[in-house]
Amino acid sequence: HYWVGQHPDDRVVVLDALTYAGNPGSIASLTEAGRVRFVRGDIAERAQVASLIAEEHIDTIVNFAAESHVDRSIEDATVFLRTNVLGTQALLEAARDGWGAGAAERGCRFHHVSTDEVYGSLDPGEAAFTEASPYAPSSPYAASKAAADHLARAFGRTYGLPYTISNCSNNYGPYQFPEKLLPLCVLNILEGRPLPIYGDGLQIRDWLHVADHCRAIDLILQASPAGETWNVGGAAQEPNIAVVGAMCDVLDEAFAAQPQLKKRFRAVARPNPPTEDPRGVVFQRVKASVRVARQ
Ligand SMILES: NC(=O)c1ccc[n+]([C@@H]2O[C@H](COP(=O)([O-])OP(=O)(O)OC[C@H]3O[C@@H](n4cnc5c(N)ncnc54)[C@H](O)[C@@H]3O)[C@@H](O)[C@H]2O)c1
Repeated sequence: HYWVGQHPDDRVVVLDALTYAGNPGSIASLTEAGRVRFVRGDIAERAQVASLIAEEHIDTIVNFAAESHVDRSIEDATVFLRTNVLGTQALLEAARDGWGAGAAERGCRFHHVSTDEVYGSLDPGEAAFTEASPYAPSSPYAASKAAADHLARAFGRTYGLPYTISNCSNNYGPYQFPEKLLPLCVLNILEGRPLPIYGDGLQIRDWLHVADHCRAIDLILQASPAGETWNVGGAAQEPNIAVVGAMCDVLDEAFAAQPQLKKRFRAVARPNPPTEDPRGVVFQRVKASVRVARQ
């Protein structure tokens, strides 16, 4: 949606395997209007990717495709390694072979979308991660994304593939699959179901609107030299429990004029934001720096 709106003259091809997290309805308005070509396919199927690159004369690849849910990776990491590592490898190889020599000079670019989870977590008082922070993934998901980042860099060094990488914080926004915190909470609040808060809910996350994330990727594609990594954050760090509390408030307010509906929210736990400055006390995690966003 972002790219078509900002770059209406570009041809956009979406390759997506339509896993449980994929929904073609999210881009139906664009495919039906002929603004986007949708191809159902797996990034790990190198031959299919290669023929698509050749057929469409693709010069820019943005690799969003992934298994992305940390909890699922803890249950079984197999598909995470297949898509996030082997899938990225297949995409990189297809780009390398399809673009051939002189890809950088011709303006080709492989942008790999990654996560700040590759850096692990911060202790109270520690400075925010930078692009130079060492990798210390905690979950199988983060480890698979870290491996993919390393592969992109290795393809840059070994084959001269023009790549960039962005490591972003927690996204929110339209069309998000409701296993992620915000859409899951909205649905649970509306249904009067318990909210998924881990422990005391004081874990801090940085929140990045998906449109801001897309703007950052756009900026990187336009302005960053190949071979660079960029951390992208929303400069919006909040304990989970405060975010959920704010959502309860917003929904209460939205339904204030309809008391019969408001009753439904009574059963929902109402978390209180922490009263102390969390930075010195419960600051478990802060997300990446906002270099791109500030530009
Ligand atoms: N959502 C976040 O908060 C967040 C934060 C940091 C980084 N990221 C990264 O951003 C990217 C997008 O995340 P998301 O939240 O939209 O993920 P998502 O899980 O909601 O969607 C992933 C998409 O990839 C598709 N897909 C999965 N396996 C595929 C395969 N083998 N081939 C082709 N398509 C496949 C799915 O069908 C789905 O449409 C991912 O690379 C993720 O690691 C997301």
